[in-house]
Amino acid sequence: MSDLAVSQAPLVSMQGIHKSFGGVHAVENVSLSLKAGEVVAVLGHNGAGKSTLMKMLAGAYPIDSGEIRINGALTSIRTPTDAQHHGIESIYQTLALADNLDAVANLFLGRELLTAWRTLDDHRMDADARKVFHRLNKNFTNIRTPVRRLSGGQRQVVAISRAIYFNAKILIMDEPTAALGPEETAMVADLVRQLKADGVGIFLISHDLHDVFALSDRVAVMKNGRLVGTYATKDVTEDEVLAMIIGGKTPAGKPQAVT
Ligand SMILES: Nc1ncnc2c1ncn2[C@@H]1O[C@H](COP(=O)(O)OP(=O)(O)OP(=O)(O)O)[C@@H](O)[C@H]1O
Ligand SMILES: [Mg+2]
Repeated sequence: MSDLAVSQAPLVSMQGIHKSFGGVHAVENVSLSLKAGEVVAVLGHNGAGKSTLMKMLAGAYPIDSGEIRINGALTSIRTPTDAQHHGIESIYQTLALADNLDAVANLFLGRELLTAWRTLDDHRMDADARKVFHRLNKNFTNIRTPVRRLSGGQRQVVAISRAIYFNAKILIMDEPTAALGPEETAMVADLVRQLKADGVGIFLISHDLHDVFALSDRVAVMKNGRLVGTYATKDVTEDEVLAMIIGGKTPAGKPQAVT
């Protein structure tokens, strides 16, 4: 591919992705792309295959077949570290944190900063962590207590801080507000807008259509492992999106947005 073609390529392009678990076709022939500064909502019922699709991009599972391109270049993402090398960070619905460690240790888990003598640079980790936590929530100060004692919103700050600190270019948010109250949910929405303005591409899995319509540029609906359709959010109504989620029915006469 020429340099020009590469520079115009989407940030992420997944083509013809398949994944089975034993006899279960969790993801079947799904194609989906993401541009810089774009929010693509991935929707569908429980078990539709949303998390599985995103986990393949995040390196949690290898794909069975299909291809993933990042900035136009064919890539093989087989581990979370591979994904991180491509600037892919994820925030899962379960907020995977190490409960016995504090917020600072969780931020740097597996990617600790080292001094020139190859010892842990606790001083810099503490200072950097304070900066990034403070940017997200000025009241979050108990960053040295085990995270199991933190509130849902504080835990979310820790999870999101990892993406920000390590300069995510591609962010996967898998039901990021599922465990949060209204104030904390609004904080996450603000953050999505901020990251989008910074050119980060975001895949947002959410069951909350209000959030989806407020935040996304495109909606991609999955059902039983397959892609029902992808539309510009402004081109579809909530009822049409619900009909796709529930019945797998695409709205008549509306153009699909490029996948
Ligand atoms: N690790 C796994 N082993 C076996 N089956 C799995 C595994 N992960 C997912 N599945 C199956 O794949 C299908 C898709 O699951 P997935 O978690 O991707 O759905 P989802 O759309 O994220 O649903 P939810 O909205 O409930 O999070 C389901 O039938 C699920 O049972
Ligand atoms: Mg899921």
